[in-house]
Amino acid sequence: MERLIYTSVARPDIGPEEIDSIVQSSALANPLRSVTGFLIFDHGCFFQYLEGPTNELDALLVKIKRDRRHSGVKVRARSAARSPLFARWRMQRVRIGGEVEKDLLARFTAEHETLEFARLLRRFPKEKPDLAIIRPSGDPAARPSFPRPC
Ligand SMILES: Cc1cc2nc3c(=O)[nH]c(=O)nc-3n(C[C@H](O)[C@H](O)[C@H](O)COP(=O)(O)O)c2cc1C
Repeated sequence: MERLIYTSVARPDIGPEEIDSIVQSSALANPLRSVTGFLIFDHGCFFQYLEGPTNELDALLVKIKRDRRHSGVKVRARSAARSPLFARWRMQRVRIGGEVEKDLLARFTAEHETLEFARLLRRFPKEKPDLAIIRPSGDPAARPSFPRPC
């Protein structure tokens, strides 16, 4: 089995009902594939952790990449795993800054193999500026700087 994290850019007009519906349908479908994980939505970006059999993850990623509710799916980390870290999370919605996030950061940090996952979680989405930084005109390096994608 393997574990992975990807980030993606949510469709700009996505609403809370749609996110709830992604979580609910994933929670129904994932047990059929022995997949578990969590989903964070923040600042217009998705951050999803998935763990499960390699072939199931591959098949699920194909579907996820085709999903029009987001774009720019980038797998940030993927590695072999001996056992699931979140065996009871069919698909858990996690909020940044909450107790659950602290708990799972602690879990990722406890194992050498998942340190990279902890690092990615800590950096999401804080490394992404909310607003374009407009430098004063006249600056030769002046170029509008747009928010980085997720
Ligand atoms: C951010 C995001 C996360 C998703 N996570 C899952 C997931 O964990 N499990 C799942 O079955 N579908 C997930 N989906 C939905 C899939 O993209 C797809 O719609 C679903 O697997 C049904 O595909 P099908 O109709 O081709 O069977 C997610 C979609 C998005 C946009």
